Amino acid sequence: MFNTLPAAPPDSILGLTDAWKNDPNPLKVNLGVGVFKDDAGNTPILASVKAAEALILQSATTKSYMPISGAPEYGTCVQEMVFGAGHEVVKSGRARTAHTPGGTAALRVGADFLKKALPGATVWMSSPTWANHKGVFAAAGFGSADYPYYDAVGKGLDFTRMRETLEAIPAGDIVLLHACCHNPSGVDLDAAQWEIVAEIAARRGWLPFLDFAYQGYGDGLAEDRAGVLALAAKCPEFMIASSFSKNFGLYQDRTGALTLVAESSAVAASAFSNVEIAIRVNYSNPPAHGGLIVKTILTDTALHQQWVNELDGMRNHIAAIRTRFVTALADHGVPGDYSFISRQKGMFSFSGLSDAQVKFLKENKSIYIVGGGRINVAGITSRNMEYLCTSIKEAMEIR
Ligand code: LMR
Repeated sequence: MFNTLPAAPPDSILGLTDAWKNDPNPLKVNLGVGVFKDDAGNTPILASVKAAEALILQSATTKSYMPISGAPEYGTCVQEMVFGAGHEVVKSGRARTAHTPGGTAALRVGADFLKKALPGATVWMSSPTWANHKGVFAAAGFGSADYPYYDAVGKGLDFTRMRETLEAIPAGDIVLLHACCHNPSGVDLDAAQWEIVAEIAARRGWLPFLDFAYQGYGDGLAEDRAGVLALAAKCPEFMIASSFSKNFGLYQDRTGALTLVAESSAVAASAFSNVEIAIRVNYSNPPAHGGLIVKTILTDTALHQQWVNELDGMRNHIAAIRTRFVTALADHGVPGDYSFISRQKGMFSFSGLSDAQVKFLKENKSIYIVGGGRINVAGITSRNMEYLCTSIKEAMEIR
């Protein structure tokens, strides 16, 4: 029976890492998957994470099952991180949080829950969006549509057209928004634009679903809450998928959270019981380790400070690379103005490279870039900067 199925194509992001690993070229560069790298090209385990793991190892007494939605203290820590301690949404019990295996599972569980609550809804996604968004919501049975987002000419946000479309989205549809560090463009809404989006959502009655995979990578942990806080102030109901892959460096420990906000604590509790059903039929209950690390760090004053310093360090490192990359491109005579790269937020830059140029760089230079021209800025190091700039200059001759 199985030979009736055609082979599936490699994943457009994770498949690139496999290809890069198998490439024998010593000069190869992986600018594909969104993983933080230091200037030596390594993705180290954070010192705060190591310290938390040592504490967990000492104090662990059981490997028994977790509750379906994870440990309640984890939910509390996540809510304080996402909304800020003492926020009304947290104090009132209007938010309920499930510990999920990464941000992807948070999206999928959220999508499965929403398919029950809003079975006829369309899911609206930014154009462009993370390559996996459409697949996750399609797997839950949703159809999707695009709203304008990135202005390829001005290399910024096309807020006028985005706003027009948001105004026309019918009540009961779902709008997926990137809370910060938009993936793939690196172009974000400012606080005033978030206020406008939240007002439209509340007035028009569509449901905002925030993908919050990069908290702390934009301008800082608190600063990156602008979208969450705008929605919390105006919208009675919304959802948030958090990922701790990047900000805690817990990529392989698959650690994330799904937060549901409802109009009252009673509605939140009853809706959340359906989230728990969606979890139970998917993976039963979450793997404990990553959640224990996050909870240990967020509840220990010294570890918390150490982690914030490490997170600030990663953000500042990427910001410094952005500036150095813009200068290096100019120094190598690459035609064009690349100053927009230093204005983009988070791990990614929409480089403006065409698919033909991306293909040339992969096939001739062993430089791996996601289709559409998204580069992981953190993959640029002192060692590969020159090779990258000279190769991009050659690629620019291809149209
Ligand atoms: C990315 O966009 O590169 C990351 O979110 C990793 C992934 O799972 O695609």
